[in-house]
Amino acid sequence: MPRLSREPEDRAAAFHARIGGENLGALWVGRRGVDLSRPRTPARPAIWRFDEIRPRLMEAGRLVSAEDAFRRVLVLQNPGFGGAMRATQTLYAGLQLVLPGEIAPCHRHSQTAIRFVVEGSGATTTVDGAALAMAPHDLVVTPQWTWHDHRNRGDKPVIWLDVLDTPLIDALDTVFRETHADILQPLTGSQGGRLIRRAGAARAALDRIASEAAPDPCLGWRFRYDDPCPTMAAFLHRLPGGFEGRPRRATDGAIYCVVEGRGETELEDAIVEWRPHDIFVVPGWCRHRHSSAAGAVLFGVSDLALQERLGLWREQRSGTGGANPEWNGGSSKSRPGR
Ligand SMILES: [Fe+2]
Repeated sequence: MPRLSREPEDRAAAFHARIGGENLGALWVGRRGVDLSRPRTPARPAIWRFDEIRPRLMEAGRLVSAEDAFRRVLVLQNPGFGGAMRATQTLYAGLQLVLPGEIAPCHRHSQTAIRFVVEGSGATTTVDGAALAMAPHDLVVTPQWTWHDHRNRGDKPVIWLDVLDTPLIDALDTVFRETHADILQPLTGSQGGRLIRRAGAARAALDRIASEAAPDPCLGWRFRYDDPCPTMAAFLHRLPGGFEGRPRRATDGAIYCVVEGRGETELEDAIVEWRPHDIFVVPGWCRHRHSSAAGAVLFGVSDLALQERLGLWREQRSGTGGANPEWNGGSSKSRPGR
């Protein structure tokens, strides 16, 4: 081959090597062949089965001391993140166990936490002086930088799902944490207001929605809690018996916890079958459809609140018209039903 023909490539390679050492990169190389037409999250469809996790949690209860009870959490690590503590690109999720008589000492941090009680009564979370008694399927919010501690005054273990915006706060380099001088903070007599959303009230709101309108073809009936914080949104879905949802995808990756009933969710080429208290992840922009033969109720959390604030949220639904043959549907940016 004529030697001259390789000169441009050689010059380019030498240039790329040289600038690499100068903390510079070539966009025309880094983006060559990369499909930027749609998001591609590393998160994968995943499910954690409660009847498998619960024995592990009880084992952790024997291994981890009461002093470390606030860390006695089994983190739900999405396999797409190589062992990092992420359930989705922006959210952390874990199952926490507090045994009878235990106290998780008071602290605060710059991440916001949502707790959804899965099992047990008798625990209290105190947030900024308000003692909030927790019952199954209650939602408790600890907004960023609020003091919080937990105590189980009952005689049974209490388990809840923790969802925090930790990966997001990490990405912003804004993680702070502080330990309170006292193990339990003083009570102020505050009722906590919007820091707790009772299971009964949320369920009544969902039932009211179900009594007034037909179910959404993709999501069933859906109640959206008042946004617990600027980053996360939380939902309660009800799928009627015989529900065969239409495919949908949305940019907010979601964590679901099954409240009651059984069903399955198709996630692109995977199918997850779920039953009460299983937790599964629908990654962002992952085509999925829910179905349930006998009906089910699902609790869900995602970063929808932040995506809406940034004007980034998108959704695509099958069967809504448009030119996309794969979907027989177009894209829409409408706000999901409440
Ligand atoms: Fe905390």
